[in-house]
Amino acid sequence: MSAPQNDSFLLACRGARPARTPIWLMRQAGRYLPEYRAIRAKVSFEELCRSPELCAEVTLQPVDILGVDAAILFSDILVVLDALGVDVVFDPSPRIAAPVRSAADISRLRWGDPRQEVGYVMDAVRACKRALADRVPLIGFCGAPFTTLSYLVEGQTSREFEHIKGLIFREPALFGGLMESMTTLLIDYLRAQVEAGVDAVQIFDSWAGALGPADFRVHVLPHLRRLVEEVRGAGAPVILFVRGNANLLADAATIPADVIGIDWTIDLQAAIATVGPERVVQGNLDPMALLGPAALVERRAREIVAAGRAARAHIFNLGHGISRHTDPGIAKLLVDVVHDA
Ligand code: CP3
Repeated sequence: MSAPQNDSFLLACRGARPARTPIWLMRQAGRYLPEYRAIRAKVSFEELCRSPELCAEVTLQPVDILGVDAAILFSDILVVLDALGVDVVFDPSPRIAAPVRSAADISRLRWGDPRQEVGYVMDAVRACKRALADRVPLIGFCGAPFTTLSYLVEGQTSREFEHIKGLIFREPALFGGLMESMTTLLIDYLRAQVEAGVDAVQIFDSWAGALGPADFRVHVLPHLRRLVEEVRGAGAPVILFVRGNANLLADAATIPADVIGIDWTIDLQAAIATVGPERVVQGNLDPMALLGPAALVERRAREIVAAGRAARAHIFNLGHGISRHTDPGIAKLLVDVVHDA
C-alpha cells in the first residue's frame, strides 16, 4: 500500500514535527454535518454501519468539507458486540435489551471471531481506503475494554456505573476474567482493521474516569497495556484516549502508546508536564468552545497549538467528540486556524 500524500498526521504519530500541526476531530463524521444527516434520513445508523460504501462516503465527508489531516473510519465502538451475540440498538443513544450482569449471563457470551462476525467493518476499511485514494491516512478504532464492557453491563450510557462497579467490587475475579476475554477480542479486532488497511488506531476509554486512580491501576491498566502492546506489534501507531479523570493521566502514560490523547479537563501544558516532553500528545480543545464566536475559537486554538510545542509532537484535536450543535463553518475555521498557526 502506498503512503498517504498528506502524511503530517502519521509523521506526528511517529514523533516528528511536520511543517503544519495536523488536526482531526473526534466524531468528525456525524450529525453536525447536513451531508451526514441527508444520508441518515435514508438509512438507520445500524444499516449505515453495515454498509461499507455508505461508511466510506460518510468517512470522507469531513475530509472534503473541513480539510482535516486524517479520516476516521465511520463505525461505532459497540458494533464489536456482534461477535458476542449481543444486540445493540441506537436511538440514537445505544441500548442493550439484555445487559450482562451475572456469571450465568457471562457464560452465555459467544466470543466469535471478529473477522467473521464484524467482517463488514473490515469491508468498510477497504472501501474507505479505495475512496481516500491515499489523500490522508485512515484511523481505525475500538472502545477500550472497560468502556466497551460498561455498555455490555449497564445496557446503556450510565451516570453512576453502579452495575459494572458493583461487579468490580463484589466479584473482582469474574470482572477480571471478562476484561481478559474482552481485551483478547479487541486485540483481534484492531489487528483485523490494521490488516484491512487502517494506518493508525485509536482506543477510546471514554468512561475510565468513572473509576478512582487506585481502581483504574488494578482493574483496568494491565488490560489496556496488553491491548496497546499487542496491537502495536501489528505495525500501526496506537493512540490511547482515556477520558474523564485527569488524575488517571500519569498512570495511563506508563503505557507505551505512540500518542496520548488528552481530554479538555486539563491544561495541555500541565498534561505535557505529566506525560513528559518526550511523548506525542493529541488534544485538547473543549468541544463546546466551538459553540462560541469565531474570535474565541481562533484564540483558544492558537493557545493550544502554542502549548503543544512543549511536546515531542502534537496532533490537534478536540478534548472529546464534536457536539451535534456545532456550525460546520466554525469547525472549518478551526482547521484553517490550526494549519496557519
Ligand atoms: O469519530 C468519528 O467520526 C467516527 C465515528 C464514531 C461514532 N461513534 C459514530 C456515532 C466513533 C469513533 C464513535 C465512538 C463511540 N461510540 C464512543 C467513544 C467516543 C466518545 O464519544 O467517547 C462511544 C462512547 C460510543 C457509543 C455511542 N454511540 C454513543 C454514546 C452514541 C450516542 C451519541 C449521541 O451523540 O447521541 C452513539 C451513536 C453514534 N455513534 C452516532 C454517531 C455518528 C449518532 C447516531 C446517529 O447518527 O443518529
